[in-house]
Amino acid sequence: MSEIRIPAPLGLLAELTHRCPLGCPYCSNPLALEPRKDELSAADWARVFKEAAALGVLQVHLSGGEPASRRDLPEIVAGARDANLYSNLITSAVGLNGAALARLADAGLDHVQVSIQDSEQDSADTIAGYKGAFERKRALAADVVKLGLPLTINVVVHRANISHVVPMVEMALALGASRVEIAHVQYYGWALKNRAALMPSREQVEQAVREVETLRAQHRGHIVIDAVVPDYYARYPKPCVGGWGRRSLNVTPSGKVLPCHAAESIPGLEFWNVREHALADIWLRSPAFNAFRGTEWMAEPCRSCERRDHDFGGCRCQAFLIAGDARQADPVCHLSPHHRLVEQLAAVREDAPYVYRR
Ligand code: SF4
Ligand code: FES
Repeated sequence: MSEIRIPAPLGLLAELTHRCPLGCPYCSNPLALEPRKDELSAADWARVFKEAAALGVLQVHLSGGEPASRRDLPEIVAGARDANLYSNLITSAVGLNGAALARLADAGLDHVQVSIQDSEQDSADTIAGYKGAFERKRALAADVVKLGLPLTINVVVHRANISHVVPMVEMALALGASRVEIAHVQYYGWALKNRAALMPSREQVEQAVREVETLRAQHRGHIVIDAVVPDYYARYPKPCVGGWGRRSLNVTPSGKVLPCHAAESIPGLEFWNVREHALADIWLRSPAFNAFRGTEWMAEPCRSCERRDHDFGGCRCQAFLIAGDARQADPVCHLSPHHRLVEQLAAVREDAPYVYRR
């Protein structure tokens, strides 16, 4: 095998807990949630953050589940600050109030990302599976701005809310966000269970893409709008996680280190745990991180494709999920021999009730 140059990772996603009061049907957490008794302690996280910084990581995303389900969250944030990492809290806003947020700011929190489910209260609460979530999110966003912390609003788009992209961006502006991330549902974990209920039509997606372009032109200089075209209607795949083992790592609540949040869906991968290995060792030498580094593992058409160093063959988890083999091209690529399966799946759309994450 030719030698692979392994770059330093830039970001670490710290899944502090899988506990969450919400039940979003597109949650990216695995179906088998890790229990509270297995969660890493704040001291474990502080060590992991120091090792991450030494490895080259600049940013830590404190995520979950709902990170505020951890009572020791201020201690965990302080651990990130002590490691000189830029900390971003990814929160549903439920379980946090202004006073708790102020404690996190005092502990060194740098940035807050609040997810919203819709611009309309009833629909937003229905999607979240939690009555009152909409108002709690608005209140927390106001507290973030009051404390002078930068705010990103994250919008996960699917069939039930894709026609509300404009009011959702306007809501983010009104809340004082400096950035909006519009992400289409990725069909792993719970979203895969709800795929037919969440899948938008091609017409809906095209309309939303046009609306985002107009919004960008209208609000240039006031708010940054990041938007990604949904996989199932794209011509080429996204460079998932910036390429396997190239940019980032995920640490699960119990300390397993994954190259992406859905990596456990690929059978046969061996993940190492921060309880037993140093993070640098895991990044450089663990079997899971080396499974899809470089290009040697690729099958045709990726192997000889001129885009292989640009999109890295797309998403390994999606290749396994749809083509049954993680070494295949991501089937959303129109060059993939399995691409017609994606077209068939995108055509399955049902107004079935959601299976909520519980
Ligand atoms: Fe990317 Fe592979 Fe498709 Fe080429 S064939 S565009 S490398 S997924
Ligand atoms: Fe695992 Fe894309 S989600 S590689």
